[in-house]
Amino acid sequence: MIKLHDLEFEPYLGPEKIQDAVRQVAKELYKDYSSKTPIFLGILNGAFMFLSDLLKYYKGDCEVSFTKLASYEGTSSSGEVSTLLGAGNLKDRDVIVIEDIVDTGLTLEHIVSQLKKEGVASFKIASLFFKPEAYKKSLPIDYVGLEIPNKFIVGYGLDYNGLGRNLPEIYQLKSSIDD
Ligand code: XMP
Ligand code: MG
Repeated sequence: MIKLHDLEFEPYLGPEKIQDAVRQVAKELYKDYSSKTPIFLGILNGAFMFLSDLLKYYKGDCEVSFTKLASYEGTSSSGEVSTLLGAGNLKDRDVIVIEDIVDTGLTLEHIVSQLKKEGVASFKIASLFFKPEAYKKSLPIDYVGLEIPNKFIVGYGLDYNGLGRNLPEIYQLKSSIDD
């Protein structure tokens, strides 16, 4: 068990399980993109560790870029999003959006509408984690590492109010009376 700020978290997924999922996503992406030069677009901050490992397993030609926006405060979605920052020129490119986790899908919807405005040739979504029970949108998540229950997790890039991103494993919020 670990404590971050005021909350307690218990171990959920170890490094091997995470790497298996990352390798699987890399394999599926390579199957679809080996004849192209896609841009992997990492969504900061959460996706930095996933994208770093993913690229080590991805053997095809590719470019890498990062963009930043945020929809989260604490452990539940605040429903607010900002614009795509620093993504670079995506016009006519095949973009693979790299997310740490898709929860309600609000963040993703915002990213996708921005990508369309940028005039990308194509886009697909890859997320290490996906919470199907929390998802409120219809946009398909094309590549999913692991489907997980609707509980807050930290580690491997994911944080609780800034803490936990450096943990090499995933921890789940300890159950409380309201879940
Ligand atoms: P939405 O609801 O827009 O949320 O799909 C996506 C973003 O919210 C963050 N998020 C989490 N962060 N543990 C976290 O540390 C979680 O369980 C979690 N669920 C969502 C994350 O930044 C994601 O990109
Ligand atoms: Mg994120």
